[in-house]
Amino acid sequence: MRIDIVSLFPEFFDAFFSHSIIKRAIEAERLSMGVTNPRDFSHNKHGQVDDTPYGGGAGMLMMAPPIFEAVESVIAQYDSETNSAYSIDEMCDEMSLIGNPSESIRRRVIFMGPTGQPFTQEKARELATYDQLVLICGHYEGVDYRVEEHLVDETISIGDYVLTGGELPAMVVADAVARMIPGVLGAASGAQEDSFYEPLLECPQYTKPPEFRGWVVPDVLRSGHHKNIATWRKKEALKRTRLLRPDLLERPLTKEEVKLLKEI
Ligand code: ADE
Repeated sequence: MRIDIVSLFPEFFDAFFSHSIIKRAIEAERLSMGVTNPRDFSHNKHGQVDDTPYGGGAGMLMMAPPIFEAVESVIAQYDSETNSAYSIDEMCDEMSLIGNPSESIRRRVIFMGPTGQPFTQEKARELATYDQLVLICGHYEGVDYRVEEHLVDETISIGDYVLTGGELPAMVVADAVARMIPGVLGAASGAQEDSFYEPLLECPQYTKPPEFRGWVVPDVLRSGHHKNIATWRKKEALKRTRLLRPDLLERPLTKEEVKLLKEI
């Protein structure tokens, strides 16, 4: 999968690309990522990418043309690298319109903004099925609305608060999506066990030492009895969810969940 980020601050992403799971996913070629700066597509010799809003008002808005051109360039780049762009011959050949290879590319252009739909685990799982994601980071007081109206497929918000730019939200989305790509997490630490894979909070986890300042790891986890461990984990997940996120239990429950909830 390819994730392209369109941002005025490419250096924000240096640490993100070069550490831990994302770095390994890139090295293993499960994921490829890049940042494109709309300033490189400025129509002005000073590299201007923002201007005052029509109708007046405080602050500056990011202009549409550099953003459109940055997005179009990463799309063209992906298509040419995957050989899915039309050749001149193909364009002339009427038959080539049938089964156009570029139509088979699953791509999503996303604007990161507080007016978008809330980001969820389900959304991360869905986005991980695309071939290319293009995440556009806004800055300044906002972005010319033509970007949202005519360029993007959807706007995503990471929460009901306003940040100074879309860079952190883009990293949040890229991180959550990357770990859903098959093979990105180690086989032993499947995303299946996450909170929100099942709509339950994760159960408590412990590692060595078995006793720390008098606080001990629950005996069952050290018993080696796999069935008891699985039941304990499910019960603890339900307990935690009922306490901290009861809204997650407002759904049809499984028979096992109903039984365990009665026992808690
Ligand atoms: N840009 C600024 N605030 C944001 C938010 N909450 N979510 C996504 N993008 C944003």
